[in-house]
Amino acid sequence: MTEKPLISIEALARRYPRHGGGETTVFEDVWLPIAKGEFICLIGHSGCGKTTILNVLAGLDQPSAGVVIVDGREIAGPSLDRAVIFQGHSLLPWMSVMGNVAFAVNSRRPDWSKDRVRAHCQKYIDVVHLTGSEHKKPAELSGGMKQRVGIARALAIEPKMLLMDEPFSALDALTRGSLQDEVRRICTETEQTVFMITHDVDEAMLLADKIVLMTNGPHAKIAEIVENTLPKDRSRTNIHKHANYYALRNHLLDFLVTRSKAFTAESGANGYDPKKPPIVRPGARPVAVETGPPEPGHAVSA
Ligand SMILES: Nc1ncnc2c1ncn2[C@@H]1O[C@H](COP(=O)(O)OP(=O)(O)OP(=O)(O)O)[C@@H](O)[C@H]1O
Ligand SMILES: [Mg+2]
Repeated sequence: MTEKPLISIEALARRYPRHGGGETTVFEDVWLPIAKGEFICLIGHSGCGKTTILNVLAGLDQPSAGVVIVDGREIAGPSLDRAVIFQGHSLLPWMSVMGNVAFAVNSRRPDWSKDRVRAHCQKYIDVVHLTGSEHKKPAELSGGMKQRVGIARALAIEPKMLLMDEPFSALDALTRGSLQDEVRRICTETEQTVFMITHDVDEAMLLADKIVLMTNGPHAKIAEIVENTLPKDRSRTNIHKHANYYALRNHLLDFLVTRSKAFTAESGANGYDPKKPPIVRPGARPVAVETGPPEPGHAVSA
C-alpha cells in the first residue's frame, strides 16, 4: 500500500490474567493497515480474538500492548467516527424506526435542523428498503427489519469506519442474502471503509476487498491477507462462475480447516514477519514473490 492508511493497527496484543496466576495471550503482534474505502473481512476460529480487536477499534476495549491509529491519531475511547453494527441490533425499544436513526444523527450533528436530520435519515431508511415503516417501533419489526434499522443508523452517522461483528449471522438465508447485497451496494457507492467479522467464507468473498486470516489462539496472529481476486462487479448470482472462485474459496477453507492450527510451524519455515503478513492472491497470476515459493496455483507477495 503506497498511500497512508486511514487506520493502522500496530503491534496489538490482548492478555488476560489466568486462573491460578500468569497470563493468557489471546493475540499478539497484530499489524494491519486499512486504506480509505477498503472493505476488510476478518476470519478466524472462535476465541482467536476477533471481537476483541473490533472492540479495540471501536474504543470499547483497551489493548494490553500496541495502538490503533485513525487519521494520524491514536484511538482513545469510543467516537461517532466509528459506528458499530452489533449482531443484536441494540435499538431503543420506545422509539420508532425514524426515531432510532434520528437519535444517532442528532448526536453526530447537533447543529442540524430537525428537517435536515429527518431528510438525511429518510435517505438511509430508503436505502435499506424500510420506506413506509418509519413510524414502527422495534417490537413491530421482524429480525431482518431490525437489523436493517441498525445498518441504516450506522450508515446515517456517516462514520469514517464501519465496524460489523457478524452482522448477518442470526438472519435467515433470504434476508441475509438481500442485506449482503444492500450493504455491498451502499459501501461501494459511498466508498465506506469497513471492518467486518464473519465466519462465512462465501460472505467474505462477496463483500471483502481483502480477507484477513487469523491463526487459532492463544497467541493468535494475522497469518496472511488474502486479496479478493474476483471482479468488482461480482454479485451473489454470478460469483461462482468466475475462474478464480474455486481457487479463492479453497484457499480460505484450507486455511480454516488445516493451516490455522499448524501456522506456527509453517511460519517458522517461511521467515514470516507479523509486521508484514504475506499478501496472497488465489487464482491470480504471480505478481511478486518475496516470502518463499508460492503455493501451486496461488500468487504470493509481501
Ligand atoms: N474478560 C475476559 N477475561 C478473560 N478472558 C477473556 C475475557 N474476554 C474475552 N476473553 C477471552 O478472549 C478470547 C477471545 O475472545 P473474542 O470474543 O475476541 O473471540 P472471537 O474470535 O470473537 O470468538 P467468536 O468467533 O466465538 O466470536 C476468548 O478465548 C475469551 O475467552
Ligand atoms: Mg466474536
